[in-house]
Amino acid sequence: MKINGIDYETIWFDREKKVVKIIDQTKLPHQFIIKDLKTVNDATNAIKTMEVRGAPLIGATAAYGLVLAIIENNDQSFLKKSAENLISSRPTAINLKWAVDRMINKLSGVNSDKILEIALNEAKAICEEDIKFCKNIGINGLKIIEEIYKKKKDTVNILTHCNAGWLATINWGTATSPIYHAHKKGIPVHVWADETRPRNQGANLTSFELNEEGIKNTIIADNTGGILMQRGEVDMCIVGTDRTLANGDVCNKVGTYLKALAAHDNKVPFYVALPSSTIDWNIKDHKDIPIEERNSEELSHMEGIDVNGDIKKIQIYPKKSKAMNLAFDITPAKYVTGLITEKGICDASTEGLKKLFK
Ligand code: MRU
Repeated sequence: MKINGIDYETIWFDREKKVVKIIDQTKLPHQFIIKDLKTVNDATNAIKTMEVRGAPLIGATAAYGLVLAIIENNDQSFLKKSAENLISSRPTAINLKWAVDRMINKLSGVNSDKILEIALNEAKAICEEDIKFCKNIGINGLKIIEEIYKKKKDTVNILTHCNAGWLATINWGTATSPIYHAHKKGIPVHVWADETRPRNQGANLTSFELNEEGIKNTIIADNTGGILMQRGEVDMCIVGTDRTLANGDVCNKVGTYLKALAAHDNKVPFYVALPSSTIDWNIKDHKDIPIEERNSEELSHMEGIDVNGDIKKIQIYPKKSKAMNLAFDITPAKYVTGLITEKGICDASTEGLKKLFK
């Protein structure tokens, strides 16, 4: 998708310089900086500090991180240690482990000169597959937006939480892909973008990327969705997910659950968009999902641009106060109207997922 009118993907490999290129998302929307990752440690840090974030993108970054590990030190024990460090860098999104396991399956025991080429091809395949899956999510989700538009014959208002846009994936996004497809088809859409405290991915990333594509959107404080739904100003919600269990329970950015409850109370359809790489087929109970707890400074401090255009960080809480920063929550399957996947739309249930994914 576009930034300043130019098409980008969120990650790519520069063969000449042997570096991985990323868009530094901690600097958006105020600065657009393309950064080089030169070592596997750079890749691990980029994931930890959220220069790259979003479930599919951290998976892709980890895959390319292992390519960098091979360039640095073509040794199986270094590869294994690097894989462990990458997996533990952000525990909640399953795509990270999924991508690392997929790479290690291809690479373990390979000691020939070909290992680098094999790793590069696999990392590229992970990215290409994600683009294809996200595009299909868009084609499948478009049908829901079309239905609403056919009945309403007016702008379709869609609420989303956090950033499950193209910046969270390689391209298209998950939750935003149906929106981009609807816009391209000429259906009038307007997005309510939850600000998404504490890191403001909704305001800084979702609103930013929609602006760049010319899609109408309005940023709202995280607590505003409820009254908008009561007033009939939300036609549907679409969110992403960091891990979806086989029973349809959805783990996504903290605050998603409260939106699902409000949607349920107001009979607003609540959809979750995901590529199959986000499904955890093993964990049976959502209580076993590791929920990332991040530094409380993300709550107590805020970063923004001052009148001179300089980026400043300020403290907004009393110095003595404690703060707690859980990054994800669980939306039980019963509050999810449907899962929009690359293979089609299904019920958020074991039976629903089984029908699509044998
Ligand atoms: O902490 P983040 O910014 O990585 O959280 C991202 C989200 O919660 C997204 O909604 C989710 O990863 C889905 S991404 C397509």
